[in-house]
Amino acid sequence: MNKINIAVIGAGTVGSAIAKALVKEEFVNKVIATRRRAEKIKWLEEHGVEISSDNVKAAKDADVIILAVKPNKIREVLEGIKEEIRGKLTISLAAGLSLKFLKSLAEAKFVRAMPNIAILVGESFTAYATNDLSEEEIALVERIFGAMGKCLRIEEEYMDAITGLSGSGPAYASVFLESMIYGGLKVGLPRDIALLAAAQTLLGTAKLLLETNLHPAQIRDMVITPGGTTIDGIFELEDSRVRTAIMKAVDAATKKSKILSLEIEAKQGKI
Ligand SMILES: NC(=O)c1ccc[n+]([C@@H]2O[C@H](COP(=O)([O-])OP(=O)(O)OC[C@H]3O[C@@H](n4cnc5c(N)ncnc54)[C@H](OP(=O)(O)O)[C@@H]3O)[C@@H](O)[C@H]2O)c1
Repeated sequence: MNKINIAVIGAGTVGSAIAKALVKEEFVNKVIATRRRAEKIKWLEEHGVEISSDNVKAAKDADVIILAVKPNKIREVLEGIKEEIRGKLTISLAAGLSLKFLKSLAEAKFVRAMPNIAILVGESFTAYATNDLSEEEIALVERIFGAMGKCLRIEEEYMDAITGLSGSGPAYASVFLESMIYGGLKVGLPRDIALLAAAQTLLGTAKLLLETNLHPAQIRDMVITPGGTTIDGIFELEDSRVRTAIMKAVDAATKKSKILSLEIEAKQGKI
């Protein structure tokens, strides 16, 4: 496979992490990252990423374009580069914007993707949807997202639910982690020990689940001894309706994603 050039348009929090991850990949020739205030991403040059504030030039040079601007900037950005991306693989990370909407703005081969902030450490879960790519192009999309963590192709109808679950998920997990750390402080652990114990426990449990295919209920039962310590903790958790609270969080964020999609698409309209 020929090495490819990638343009990351809108290298903010997520885009700059993507540029940094991709530039190290063997299948990549060069990565150009843009934002209007390009001086803010000067640090990316140390990692071998070219930086620019010229979206048109970046898109022209690129085989693959990744749109990492906020959803409300997508229309404006696509208006500026629609000639340069014609027929090219173009990945949009914009929450809520449908493939149909994107295709109404430019004639590119669009992929709609939802990563999460763990992209910063190469452990994102990225779901993506697309409907007119060749096998070879799908393989390329998987290599791109594979450089940032795990990825899965899904039907587009699940995208809002993914946004509410794994897109927002690091925020829920952080609340859980913070609560674990507070719990540690409550029982007298020094802060650094509480933080490490909580974070490694969450990481290890997630790894256990993924690597053994055990159901979470089985892992829970492996820890609970009849009459032991854990069942007292679980009793308190169940009494606090913590499951309902987390389910409600995913449900609320999914509903918001659906509402935002309608609002943004209605506001931005077709070019
Ligand atoms: N953050 C998350 O956890 C997360 C998770 C999943 C998906 N996403 C999606 O990822 C995308 C980016 O999110 P983010 O959190 O990384 O946002 P962000 O930090 O605000 O980054 C967006 C960048 O776009 C640049 N920009 C704005 N207008 C531009 C233009 N016309 N041309 C070039 N660059 C432009 C901005 O820099 P300048 O002002 O200097 O131009 C800004 O740094 C969003 O669509 C979001 O839905 C984010």
